[in-house]
Amino acid sequence: MKNEVVDGIEITDHLRRLSPEQVREEILSGLLDSPRSLPSKYFYDQKGSRLFEDITKLDEYYLTDTEKGIMRRTMPLVVGELSDADVIELGSGDCSKISILLESIPEESRSTIRYVPVDVSRAAIVKSAVKLRERFPRVRIQGLVANFHHRIEEVPDGHRKLFCFFGSTIGNLGQAESESFLAGLSEVMRPADRLLLGLDMVKEVGVLESAYNDSKGITAAFNRNILDVVNRLVQTDFRPREFDHSAFFNSEVNRIEMHLVPRRNSTVHSPYLQSPLEISSGETIHTENSYKYTPDSIESFCKKCRLNVENIFMDEREWFSLVELAAD
Ligand SMILES: C[S@@+](CC[C@H](N)C(=O)[O-])C[C@H]1O[C@@H](n2cnc3c(N)ncnc32)[C@H](O)[C@@H]1O
Repeated sequence: MKNEVVDGIEITDHLRRLSPEQVREEILSGLLDSPRSLPSKYFYDQKGSRLFEDITKLDEYYLTDTEKGIMRRTMPLVVGELSDADVIELGSGDCSKISILLESIPEESRSTIRYVPVDVSRAAIVKSAVKLRERFPRVRIQGLVANFHHRIEEVPDGHRKLFCFFGSTIGNLGQAESESFLAGLSEVMRPADRLLLGLDMVKEVGVLESAYNDSKGITAAFNRNILDVVNRLVQTDFRPREFDHSAFFNSEVNRIEMHLVPRRNSTVHSPYLQSPLEISSGETIHTENSYKYTPDSIESFCKKCRLNVENIFMDEREWFSLVELAAD
């Protein structure tokens, strides 16, 4: 664990404690699996975080603007009275959504708020914390570079907590994984604590698929970038440009799936593999899921996670939900 101060902002880096062996095991086990896969958290090196920020500005990627619209309308109701509290944002990314939330807290209460962004991307935390400090000088910021799966118990203790998990990032976890993750969060939540959970809704397939197949090819670049990250971490010799981006809605399980599809049979080497990977052109590497929800599935999902639905805020088209939850 490494503590440092960047421009007056405290950053605690837990990821430096992850051994290279653990990282290699996570990546190579997915590549050797059938079907092949990679953990989506490896999208987010510095370039991946920047590409994701670009995705959020695309016309086709309705998720970000829709969630922000809901926040502008509802945050004054949700946090207008908040004081002496820790605002903990999981998978924080850039600072644009939390800015809407902090703006809704009256100026005089902001000095009683501590903001804790938690993300695997150190670059994203530093960049957003520096911007937020300029905009909200009274708010104390304490960044946590960490895997949110492992570090919930390490968030600073003491005050009332408002957990924020925006962007439908929960939808990137497998179903069992998301349930056990949120059930774990519910266990550490006290009665006054709340969770704001952003969930993307099932909608017309054309709208869903366009959001992950943008016309500028930025999502494709984001998807391929994971192979550059893998090349660096496990010294493979993937040639990302020889893989096509594929994203489609799987209506059986209500999720967008993102894959990388080799254009021809390819052989991939790594000093950490006993024999080269032979990936045939008929195979794909599954890089991400993005689960979509319905009003009924939100209720049953939250119940399984031992969370009580306090409020569901939606946009007019009912494309996105921001759910306010308390521990059961
Ligand atoms: C889909 S983006 C959402 C970003 C932002 N919250 C938003 O709503 O636009 C997912 C974010 O979660 C981070 N992330 C992904 N997996 C993570 C993990 N296991 N632990 C911590 N952060 C993670 C990524 O670095 C990225 O910033």
